[in-house]
Amino acid sequence: MKTVFSGLKPSGDMTIGNYLGAMKHWPKDQGKHRTIFFIPNLHAITTRQDPIQLKKRTLDLVAWLLTVGVDPDQSIILVQSMVPQHAELAWILNNYVTMGEMSRMTQYKDKAKKAGPEGLLVGFFDYPALMAADILLYDSNEVPVGEDQIQHIELTRDIAKRFNTIYGDTFVVPKGVIPDTGARIMSLDNPKIKMSKSDHPDSSISLTESTDSILKKFKRAVTDSDNKIAYDKANKPAISNLIEIYSGFTDASVAEIEKKYADKNYAIFKSDIGEIVAHKLSLLQNDFNNIRSDEASLYSIIDVGNSKASQIASEKLKIVKEKTGLL
Ligand code: TRP
Repeated sequence: MKTVFSGLKPSGDMTIGNYLGAMKHWPKDQGKHRTIFFIPNLHAITTRQDPIQLKKRTLDLVAWLLTVGVDPDQSIILVQSMVPQHAELAWILNNYVTMGEMSRMTQYKDKAKKAGPEGLLVGFFDYPALMAADILLYDSNEVPVGEDQIQHIELTRDIAKRFNTIYGDTFVVPKGVIPDTGARIMSLDNPKIKMSKSDHPDSSISLTESTDSILKKFKRAVTDSDNKIAYDKANKPAISNLIEIYSGFTDASVAEIEKKYADKNYAIFKSDIGEIVAHKLSLLQNDFNNIRSDEASLYSIIDVGNSKASQIASEKLKIVKEKTGLL
């Protein structure tokens, strides 16, 4: 059976970009494949976090996974810091990747440009080694991620192959998978940058946003110059992004949406999309609130997931230690 593995960092409130690009797709593989979803909180601390917020967001994320249909009986749900094999394998893998390879990671380069060497933490530089450990511990075949993480998966593949070449087959070489829709939801006020909670408040919609605020933000969303609802990512990036969001929330195809709005203007489209997103989110929020309010159940789900994960992870780590001569 194939293993599908992915995770979402608890470093900000979840947005509709995280929902459409990741979470929404995860339950689909359940039953068909071995599915493992995790909360990479050790990755979150590579940028400074408020401890109370970090803890809250970790539990929030577990509750969101359950809300969107990740089923703890069919999937393993784990929290990275609670399965110590992740950090342990990451340390070992550090020695199978070079400074040069790490320095070529776009996410690191972008941040290094902005923050300079004194503003960057070593953990942030080393982030891809921990990500490789996450993935390789579970013999993951497929790793669904957003486009911006593909380079890290490529590096994971290189690390796995390098290790296998030296010590014989040890790790499954994973494949990064980008979802057909929603892989790159852009900011509402600037379609050139990815939607992110940390930008301007008008740029993103959080999963906990109120109906009023959702309607307002879609009304204010930037659009392109002609007043036509047509998908053309290169020439009409703003409306194309809105069409992708519309499609993600309704499961209507781009062609169906274009047809439906062929003789309508941006104002009508923006008001409709606002209503659709607000309605869907209010249903999800209802379920989320119920699930989130029972922390004891969340902890027991995490406990079960962690112990299943740790069984798999410790077997892999044992093999790695044997091969490398670590007692
Ligand atoms: N780096 C990923 C992100 O920012 C999160 C992540 C950490 C991850 N480890 C992973 C995703 C392993 C997939 C597999 O989105």
